[in-house]
Amino acid sequence: MPKPLAGLDIAPSVLELIGGTPIVRLGRVAPHIATPVVAKLETSNPGGSVKDRAAIAMIDAAEAEGRLQPGDVIVEPTSGNTGVGLAVVAAQRGYRCIFVCTDKVAPEKVALLRAYGAEVVVCPAKVHPEDPRSYYATAARLKAETPRAFSPDQYSNQSNPRAHYETTGPEIWAQTGGRVTHLVAGAGTGGTISGVGRFLKEQNPAIEVIVADPPESVYGGGDGSPYLVEGIGEDFWPTTYHAKFVDRVIPVTDADSFAMARRVTRREGLLTGGSGGTAVTGAFRIAAELDAEGRAGESLVVTLIPDSGRLYLSRVFDDEWLESRDLSIDDEVDLSPPDPGGNS
Ligand SMILES: Cc1ncc(COP(=O)(O)O)c(C=O)c1O
Repeated sequence: MPKPLAGLDIAPSVLELIGGTPIVRLGRVAPHIATPVVAKLETSNPGGSVKDRAAIAMIDAAEAEGRLQPGDVIVEPTSGNTGVGLAVVAAQRGYRCIFVCTDKVAPEKVALLRAYGAEVVVCPAKVHPEDPRSYYATAARLKAETPRAFSPDQYSNQSNPRAHYETTGPEIWAQTGGRVTHLVAGAGTGGTISGVGRFLKEQNPAIEVIVADPPESVYGGGDGSPYLVEGIGEDFWPTTYHAKFVDRVIPVTDADSFAMARRVTRREGLLTGGSGGTAVTGAFRIAAELDAEGRAGESLVVTLIPDSGRLYLSRVFDDEWLESRDLSIDDEVDLSPPDPGGNS
């Protein structure tokens, strides 16, 4: 570690720049909806996504407990963003990284991990989790074969939701002056929604916590069949997802998620990934419901944009790719209130 530059507003390293992300009002996405919707921009983290927070928390805890030591190798199945977060921390701390992802992941994400110096193994997405070719099975095999391998396991590591309980939640509470009434976010491991949800409900139990979820995902009662949005929804229940802090799960399709990602990008000037489109669609549907209930004036809906559209230029932002999957290239999204029964 170099000598600190005392008295100057300069971060000692990139790791101190994780968190503290800004919040912005989404004023142009749906001007007919009165209930305000604001978005926390997790794109501002050094690795470009919300997963930087979980990554540093998991590494810090493992080092503190002596489970991760200099010379160890980080091996993790990740859809990309957690890998980038871990690679950012590993660069600073000198660890080698091996990541496993599926072929559903955009090629830019794999290239990005390799840019940070990580080794990446790509596995087929369309096989059962117990198939030896699955990304879970491949990661388990690599972990067993690699000497001094350490796997943070973001799907069971409670430092993951804790990171959001300790940082993202308090930031949202402070930035909204405690006026937040609804949180709408996607759930992959569930770390974000569980940690932020727990913190916000401790401050004010009336705050509603809502997961915007692909209809196929198990969180909302789906069967885990494939869908195109990356990073959110699951085909199993990870222990990092704490359902007791979630009030509702509302379904948002691939088509609506991608159309909204394009809409936010083009109308707000905010380059947003597919899962950000899912979250923003869910947030405006909740806002439309609040409008219909006459609660616009007393409500503040907070959503979270997990990563940037820069990672999805060959997918969400590629007309040919969308058309090849029978998805619309326009940016119209149905923002009617969600089905009150929901699918939770
Ligand atoms: C693009 C994207 N969006 C959302 C999430 C969801 O975050 P969490 O795992 O905290 O539920 C992830 C997680 O990997 C992600 O990569």
